Amino acid sequence: MGGIRDWKGRTVWITGASSGIGRTLAVRLASQGAWVFGSARDAAALRELQAAHGIEPLPCDVSDHASMLAAAGHIRERAGSLDVLVANAGTCEYVDVQAFDSTLFERVMRVNFQGAVHTVEAALPLLRAGKTRVIAGVGSTAAWTGLPRAEAYGASKAALHYFLESLRVDLTGEGFTVQTIAPGFVETPLTDRNDFAMPMRISVDAAVDYLLAGLASGRPEVDFPPAFSGALRTLRLLPVSLRNRLYQRLVRKAE
Ligand SMILES: NC(=O)c1ccc[n+]([C@@H]2O[C@H](COP(=O)([O-])OP(=O)(O)OC[C@H]3O[C@@H](n4cnc5c(N)ncnc54)[C@H](OP(=O)(O)O)[C@@H]3O)[C@@H](O)[C@H]2O)c1
Repeated sequence: MGGIRDWKGRTVWITGASSGIGRTLAVRLASQGAWVFGSARDAAALRELQAAHGIEPLPCDVSDHASMLAAAGHIRERAGSLDVLVANAGTCEYVDVQAFDSTLFERVMRVNFQGAVHTVEAALPLLRAGKTRVIAGVGSTAAWTGLPRAEAYGASKAALHYFLESLRVDLTGEGFTVQTIAPGFVETPLTDRNDFAMPMRISVDAAVDYLLAGLASGRPEVDFPPAFSGALRTLRLLPVSLRNRLYQRLVRKAE
């Protein structure tokens, strides 16, 4: 499994590049000489990234199959192939079980899971035309354990983790490196909206440091920050009834 340390001349497609982790990663990779295609729905934000950092704007909606195929067609015309895909676009909505709404689940799954599937479908022929063949999907440590109000977000990320793990099995023979990136809490517009305490929340620059180290390592599973992911991993080892009591106490404390 090859990791990437030298980004000079690498062709990279990052979804969710208009904001947060994806934006910071796009800027860092462009500054290291990568040819970065940045996707999101916000075309104006992408144009600003182009003007300031030379990132190629590729506006699209990951939840829209045709839009993703069209974006990949643009990369084919411009670059012919792709070295690295970072399927990072994502959204978060928390569930209120008193007003249970299945359409919320549909929205979240459509971006976080189906969106990543659309992205991989669109990128695969381009990655096969290249030699590096890296797919990194940005999941979440929330996928590891059933956290309060995360019925939709956590499930979408658990589905994404499963998808990536299976994909790894099926693509390794073709020389692909498939990586699952699982951040803890990171300071971005996505978590700025949260109304609860976020333990060990890290800056977006620190998160991208970890992400770049993970891409350099080529490790199949990359999670950070280590203190947070280590604690969550330990929690996951507890009997489910004990975990349930603990999380309920957390919810009561927050109320
Ligand atoms: N921040 C955290 O604590 C944290 C923790 C674990 C995992 N993550 C994951 O990290 C990834 C990036 O999140 P972030 O924190 O950087 O959030 P963010 O600042 O809100 O960025 C999300 C990005 O995804 C894009 N996006 C959302 N829906 C899209 C759609 N339908 N089509 C195309 N692009 C879409 C947004 O662009 P447009 O709105 O312009 O489309 C934006 O560029 C997400 O997958 C998130 O779940 C974040």
